[in-house]
Amino acid sequence: MKNDLKEIIFTADEINAKVRELAKKISKDYENLDFVLITILKGSFIFASDLVRNMDISTNINFMEASSYGNGTTTSGELKIKHDLDIDIRGKHVLIVEDIIDSGITLSKLKNILYERGAGTIKICSLLNKPSRRQIEIEIDYLGFNIPDEFVVGYGMDYAEKYRNLPYVGILKPEIYTF
Ligand code: IMP
Ligand code: MG
Repeated sequence: MKNDLKEIIFTADEINAKVRELAKKISKDYENLDFVLITILKGSFIFASDLVRNMDISTNINFMEASSYGNGTTTSGELKIKHDLDIDIRGKHVLIVEDIIDSGITLSKLKNILYERGAGTIKICSLLNKPSRRQIEIEIDYLGFNIPDEFVVGYGMDYAEKYRNLPYVGILKPEIYTF
């Protein structure tokens, strides 16, 4: 798998240090709140599991699979909810945990859906952000790193369902993906 990468941009240690920092901030901000954490599958499963293990407050951990991606590397703009919450979020403080924000379409649509369901507050925590790709403005409350417009994999993120299990984040060689 490593041979398919052009470059490793964040090592496991660098990611770990950042995750701890984010978990500390979140723990402080949500300490006395009725708090629901929503992991966006599949890309965020590793980030979220490291994040919650570094938080020292109790949290209600939930999952949604919502994506605007097919097997390619560009967004289709359509949001599909493939797996939904099984809890009522009315009046709850919601924290969405995402792997990477690109166009912003997925999360802005998801945020609207969750507000319609009566969420009290909604904040976003994303490991990575590609600001140059934004199509819809979206506020990121807790951000790991900004990255340039490159397709990255590892630490939960895939290309065609591969590379999620790499413990670091790397840039995929362009010849690996085809449109
Ligand atoms: P958005 O709606 O364009 O912001 O799409 C965000 C989603 O696209 C992320 O949750 C990822 O699943 C996927 N995505 C965007 N950029 C990358 C990337 O560089 N590598 C892997 N997945 C990506
Ligand atoms: Mg994702």
